[in-house]
Amino acid sequence: MITGNYPNLRLRRNRKQSWSRRLIQESELSPNDFILPIFLVDGSNKREPVSTMPGVYRYTVNRISQVVDRAIKIGIPMVALFPKTKNSLKNEIGSESLNKNNLVCKAIIEIKKRYKNKIGIMCDVALDPYTSHGHDGLVRSNQIINDETIEVLINQSLLQAEMGCDVLAPSDMMDGRIGKIRKALDKSGYQNVQILSYAAKYASSFYGPFRDAVGSKGSLKGDKKTYQMDFRNSDEALREVALDIKEGADMVMVKPGMPYLDIIKSIKEKFRIPVFAYQVSGEYSLISNAIQKKLINEDAIFESLVAFKRAGASAIVSYYADRIDKIIK
Ligand code: PBG
Repeated sequence: MITGNYPNLRLRRNRKQSWSRRLIQESELSPNDFILPIFLVDGSNKREPVSTMPGVYRYTVNRISQVVDRAIKIGIPMVALFPKTKNSLKNEIGSESLNKNNLVCKAIIEIKKRYKNKIGIMCDVALDPYTSHGHDGLVRSNQIINDETIEVLINQSLLQAEMGCDVLAPSDMMDGRIGKIRKALDKSGYQNVQILSYAAKYASSFYGPFRDAVGSKGSLKGDKKTYQMDFRNSDEALREVALDIKEGADMVMVKPGMPYLDIIKSIKEKFRIPVFAYQVSGEYSLISNAIQKKLINEDAIFESLVAFKRAGASAIVSYYADRIDKIIK
């Protein structure tokens, strides 16, 4: 593959001027590459900072236009909604996930009413924002039970689709849920609702600040290692993706992002489908705190995001998305 020899070939020749470097650039970023996560909180007229994520806020539904306006203005194609559910509404079976008036449902309705199809809406399918134990599924005798969890996830999916959600994103890692959700959607007339499967989701320490943002931190009992993947594995990620494609996933997600660029690349090379990357809360907080402390400079954000494109990601879920216009400049 090496196609020349020094001194005939000097790779620095192409790097000598900015115009020349621009000509040979392989990866670029545009606002089209981003999905903006939005944290929701109950009440009204609130925009409260998430203490573990500098620059990130939770919005009440009546204030959501503040952030969606901005997303549309800079050209972000989609937002992802995450609720901070009041503790008094959480229980063992996460029944608030099926409440037509829960935060996510209210936010979908508000966004669709205000913006029609100017921006896509993605919603997580999983129970962790709603369960008192903080797990993504139902728990019995200390086990996360797969098939019964899927029955609830199907209902959560149908409800979110009915409200107007465009892209359902099962992030629960139960076996077989993509196929069952696809089938239920089709049967109910939601053939056009897309599924973005969190196919390769690892049991990771990088989710810490997110669990704080959605208020599941203190409550999580144990860990998620019986359903989320072991970070030592990559072949297993390909098996997860292969299954989800067969079951009807339109796109797949790799999560976390930066420590898993190899996974993004091998999925893209093997399957040639849209692969999304999630630059998760812990990655965001590490970079943001290091910048605040002047350990690294702000350009690190752009570098961290281009890395996903270089690895083969089609789009990136990032808490920086609402500022991406400035970051790209
Ligand atoms: C829950 C979910 C998690 C994230 C997105 N959806 C956390 C978890 O699995 O515990 C994490 C996102 C982030 O850290 O930014 N199903």
